[in-house]
Amino acid sequence: MTSAKIAVIGGDGIGPEVTAEAIKVLTAVAPDTFEFVDYDLGAERWQRTGEVLPDSVLEELKHVDAIALGAVGAAPGSKAIPSGLLERGLLLKLRFAFDHAINLRPSILYPGVPTPLAPAVLEGRTVDFVVVREGTEGLYCGNGGAVRVGTAQELATEVSVNTFFGVERVVRDAFGRARARRGKLTLLHKHNVLVNAGRLWNRAFTEIAAEFPDVATNYLHIDAAMIAMVVDPSQFDVIVTDNLFGDIVTDLAAAVTGGIGLAASANINPTGEYPSMFEPVHGSAPDIAGKGIADPTAAISSMALLLDHLGRPELARRIDEAVSADIAERGSEKLGTTQIGDRIAARVA
Ligand code: NAD
Ligand code: IPM
Ligand code: MN
Repeated sequence: MTSAKIAVIGGDGIGPEVTAEAIKVLTAVAPDTFEFVDYDLGAERWQRTGEVLPDSVLEELKHVDAIALGAVGAAPGSKAIPSGLLERGLLLKLRFAFDHAINLRPSILYPGVPTPLAPAVLEGRTVDFVVVREGTEGLYCGNGGAVRVGTAQELATEVSVNTFFGVERVVRDAFGRARARRGKLTLLHKHNVLVNAGRLWNRAFTEIAAEFPDVATNYLHIDAAMIAMVVDPSQFDVIVTDNLFGDIVTDLAAAVTGGIGLAASANINPTGEYPSMFEPVHGSAPDIAGKGIADPTAAISSMALLLDHLGRPELARRIDEAVSADIAERGSEKLGTTQIGDRIAARVA
């Protein structure tokens, strides 16, 4: 891998702040390896030009080796930026256009990290699991509509799309990951209510399980899984679930493993036809933007996922080790964004 081209989309709020630290660490661990191309996209660009993601930019992005994204979106309730404009028009547009079917979200509770979990939950146990979230279907397809908007008779629908092709590929990916880890895969759904999609997910899960007799499987309804995530998260190895359940469970997973500032993610295009995209799980955090206090660790750990994807696992492990050492050293000390970036960059260099 010489001179891989990385598109950098800092985005909004703390997005550019944490992305700068991620690129700093990536450059420190692999000097002279990457060519970075910055893309000015997000709320400001839209306000200035009316553009969210021009077709010409989408076309250019198609040809990079990977995308590093910060976060997009305004403060919930913002009057200046319509909710969903940037989330749908930029972030989800990239996930859909580049067929990011596999949304990987690892959660590890590092030693010494403050966690809201009760001490008894952790006694002698480790929390180390990965959520494989479906990334291109479900309730995210924009399949719905509204009539009589603004009236007392308003009716709105959002219809979940689940194809056997889409579900089968994400379930198969998750079985492969479980086999390579501790050999356990949990399906999260809600087939007691969502009977149609639930039947499809169950069939895919059962059929593929037959090809992986060495992987132990179980199923939890998504609501019960929220309890398990808080009272017994060490039971999880690999979790597979749909797009919206995966979005929700990964914020909770982040919260119990040290906070949203530590949670990394990868949006993988399984065929390699399009670039994959690496980003923290968190959003633009307008409440702390511009203060220099956002934790860049999630963005930095996402660069380890990027290196894994580009075939440099030895460099990825160096970032993971530096992150875990830095987290242990930090304890509950409050460090600034660039301070954390500098410390981790120094460790990997
Ligand atoms: P958020 O993740 O931005 O913030 C939730 C809470 O976590 C806030 O209190 C915030 O201060 C804190 N937080 C988030 N990242 C942090 C970090 N790195 N360090 C320390 N604290 C951190 O979620 P939200 O407030 O619901 O959303 C804000 C905007 O971001 C919305 O427009 C939303 O649509 C968007 N969003 C974008 C992405 C993305 O681009 N991938 C993801 C989630 C939300
Ligand atoms: C995430 C975010 C996005 C999602 C939004 C901003 C579209 O919450 O990456 O977790 O729901 O996938
Ligand atoms: Mn989310």
